[in-house]
Amino acid sequence: MEAQLEQLLITAISDLEAISDEASLEAARVKYLGKKGDLSVLAAGMKDVPPDQKKAVGQKLNEVRTTITEKLESARSTLQDAADAQALVGIDPTLPGRTPFTGGLHPLTIILDEAVSALRRLGFAVAEGPEIETEFHCFDALNTPEDHPARNEKDTFYFDDGKLLRTHTSSVQIRTMEAAKTTPVRIVAPGSAFRRDEIDATHLSSFNQLEGLYVDENVTLADLKGTLEFFFRCMFGSETETRFRPHFFPFTEPSYEIDILLKASGKEPKWIEIAGCGIVDPAVFEAVSKSRGDDLFDPERVSGFAFGMGLERLAMIRWGISDIRLLIENDVRFLKQFA
Ligand code: PHE
Repeated sequence: MEAQLEQLLITAISDLEAISDEASLEAARVKYLGKKGDLSVLAAGMKDVPPDQKKAVGQKLNEVRTTITEKLESARSTLQDAADAQALVGIDPTLPGRTPFTGGLHPLTIILDEAVSALRRLGFAVAEGPEIETEFHCFDALNTPEDHPARNEKDTFYFDDGKLLRTHTSSVQIRTMEAAKTTPVRIVAPGSAFRRDEIDATHLSSFNQLEGLYVDENVTLADLKGTLEFFFRCMFGSETETRFRPHFFPFTEPSYEIDILLKASGKEPKWIEIAGCGIVDPAVFEAVSKSRGDDLFDPERVSGFAFGMGLERLAMIRWGISDIRLLIENDVRFLKQFA
C-alpha cells in the first residue's frame, strides 16, 4: 500500500504541474481528491493493512493528501494570477485615479442659507407666498397707487386675467398678515421676483429677493436698525459698516435705502446700495385689517418694520462677482469655485 501511495504521489505531482486551465484543474481535483477519486480508493484499503503498519500507512496517506491539496491550491492561484494579469492588459494601473465629480451648492443657495439662518437667530421664521399674484397683494394692499410706475405694463408681467408675476416679495407681507392667528409676526420670505427689465450685467428679469417683516406692539426704528446691522455683519463680517439713507417706498414711512461700505482690497472704500426698508405704513395695516375683517393689525395697537433686498446682489458683493448673468448661466467653470 505504501508503494501504491508513493506511485500515486509521483503521477499526481506531474499531473498537477501540467494543469493549464480551469477545466483540467477541476478534473484533477475530482480524480485525486473526489469521493471516488484515487486517494479515496486507496484509503478504503486501510482496513486490510496489518495493525502494526496502520500508523505508518495512515501517516503516509495523510502526507499524500496534504501534498496533493497544496499542489491543487497553488495551481488554482497560478491560474487566478494569470487571469488577473490578463484582465489588466492594456490598462496602466499606476495612473492616478480620476477625481469624482461631486458637485456643490450654488452661490445663491449658499447666500440664502446664510441669510435665513442669521435671521432665524433673531426669531424670524420662513414664510412663503405665490409668484403669480393679485394686484391687491402686490400693490393695492401695499399702498401703491394705481398710477405708480411699478404697475405699468412696461415694467410688470401681467396675465390676461389681471394677475401678475410679483414684482417684489413684499406681497408675502400681506399674505402673512392676512393668515396670521396672532401677533407678533416675525418672518423672512425668500423667493423669486419678476420685472420687465432689459437683462444686463446688473439686471435679470427673474431674480430673487429676501423680504423681512416684524410686527408687534412698539416696534421702532431702533429695532429695524439693530436687526439689519446685525444681519449685515453676519453676512459680510463683524466690521461691516452700514448707512441708512432716507428714501421712499409706498408701504413704509419713513423709508430708507441701506448702503454698506465696500472695502475691496486695493480700492477706495465705496458705499453701495444693498436693501430697502422702513417702518410699516399704517395704510398697509388698514388694508390688511379690511381684508381680514378684524382688528388684530389695528395700526393704533401694532407697529412694524419691513425690509427687502436682492439675493443676487448679496452674492455679487460677497464674492466680487461683476456680472449678475454668471449666476444663471450654470457654467461649471464659474460654479466650481464655490464647491
Ligand atoms: N419691495 C422693495 C423693493 O423691491 C424693497 C422693500 C421691502 C422696501 C420692504 C421696504 C420694505 O425694492
